Amino acid sequence: MHSPNSSPVHPLPVPSAHAFTLDLPDEEATATLGRELAPLLKPGMVVWLDGELGAGKTTLTRALLRALGHKGPVKSPTYTLVEVYVVSSIYWYHFDFYRFNHPEEFEDAGLGEYFRDDAVCLVEWPEKAAGHVPPPDVALVFRFAGDGRQLELVAASEKGRACLNTLQSRWPPAGN
Ligand SMILES: Nc1ncnc2c1ncn2[C@@H]1O[C@H](COP(=O)(O)OP(=O)(O)O)[C@@H](O)[C@H]1O
Ligand SMILES: [Mg+2]
Repeated sequence: MHSPNSSPVHPLPVPSAHAFTLDLPDEEATATLGRELAPLLKPGMVVWLDGELGAGKTTLTRALLRALGHKGPVKSPTYTLVEVYVVSSIYWYHFDFYRFNHPEEFEDAGLGEYFRDDAVCLVEWPEKAAGHVPPPDVALVFRFAGDGRQLELVAASEKGRACLNTLQSRWPPAGN
């Protein structure tokens, strides 16, 4: 059973500075959240996207990249491990570690070099690379809730806290 009140998908490796939840009743709400988050992410930030298959991690990423001006498709990186985008003069790396059999595959694939000061990294299934993937500034934890989703937003750094404080102050955005 999916429960909105279940415990976190996995414990964060750093103490959370700020956390709150939002209801995302439909796909459009998930996309709206992605669009609102897009301008608040700065180079060097790492976002973990947690939640089961079909929870909305890729849906949010797609809306986020489109909001920044990306015109092409946003495919799930399930098979490629990482998809690369250059938008708004920033490198955006979208990872999906679902298919990892062991966390060391993160090192085997040389993925550490993507986590740079001039890039934003969006990571699906970070727990599959536990101990190797860098810790997040922001963790978004999707849970199934009826026909929709409940999203827990956790800031795990000062940059993440600033980002989520602004997001929370603007939510819900006008017109939604
Ligand atoms: N808030 C929501 N409520 C209901 N359905 C949603 C919501 N957000 C996304 N969806 C739907 O759930 C599915 C999520 O798929 P996807 O984003 O690929 O999931 P993930 O990347 O987490 O595996 C899509 O079919 C999308 O339309
Ligand atoms: Mg996905």
